[in-house]
Amino acid sequence: MDKIISGRSGNELQAELLKSVKALKGYVLNQGSLSVGIEWKKKPQAIKKSKDSLKNKEEQLKITCQEMANCQLCPLGKTRHNLVFGDGNPHAQIVFVGEAPGADEDEQGLPFVGRAGQLLTDIIVKGMKLERKDVYICNILKCRPPGNRNPLPDEICKCEPFLKKQLQIISPKIICALGTFAAQTLLKTDIPISALRGRFHSYEGIKLMPTYHPAYLLRNQSAKKPVWEDVQMIMKETQP
Ligand code: URA
Repeated sequence: MDKIISGRSGNELQAELLKSVKALKGYVLNQGSLSVGIEWKKKPQAIKKSKDSLKNKEEQLKITCQEMANCQLCPLGKTRHNLVFGDGNPHAQIVFVGEAPGADEDEQGLPFVGRAGQLLTDIIVKGMKLERKDVYICNILKCRPPGNRNPLPDEICKCEPFLKKQLQIISPKIICALGTFAAQTLLKTDIPISALRGRFHSYEGIKLMPTYHPAYLLRNQSAKKPVWEDVQMIMKETQP
């Protein structure tokens, strides 16, 4: 039941109180926007954000790389020789995302520098008529799983936020997911790569083309044709 207090009902008091709070909020906001007399807690954050967005992509990637330089979030931190953050053009239109570093990558701290990497370079240079420095290359995992075993769910889970940030910073036109792990991790699906490839999907609003991993291509000549079809679709999409 609605109680009567000082001649007014509870509902009336509540409405009055709400009105006063709204008026006070308006006053505070007004003072804040004029920077008059009120210590405005939100302002420093807003200033920091706009400063951050002014930093160029290269700097932002460097900061993200530094943030994870000594990462020990999963056991791979103990066995890696080098963390393989990523390499290439921070302003790239195309980002290739592989699975995880192998022995060569772990040794050099660079992605796709082994045999599969040479094939990826051929696809970029001979197929797409680009240079490696025109694109950006990285992996789902930044550290090598021992013996090149498949990435474990917990490793993917711990490492993924760094990749997400990397992709957010670069904000490419196209992501090319190389192989099952990259495609399934980014698209949050367990549909096989054979069914995913051949068409664009969406990753956080970015067009994503899954295709076979270059290492698979080394073992399966028959995958050459579908990969070339996928690559041509990417090229078409990135032409001015
Ligand atoms: N395979 C990958 O998935 N990534 C590399 O960096 C090298 C091989």
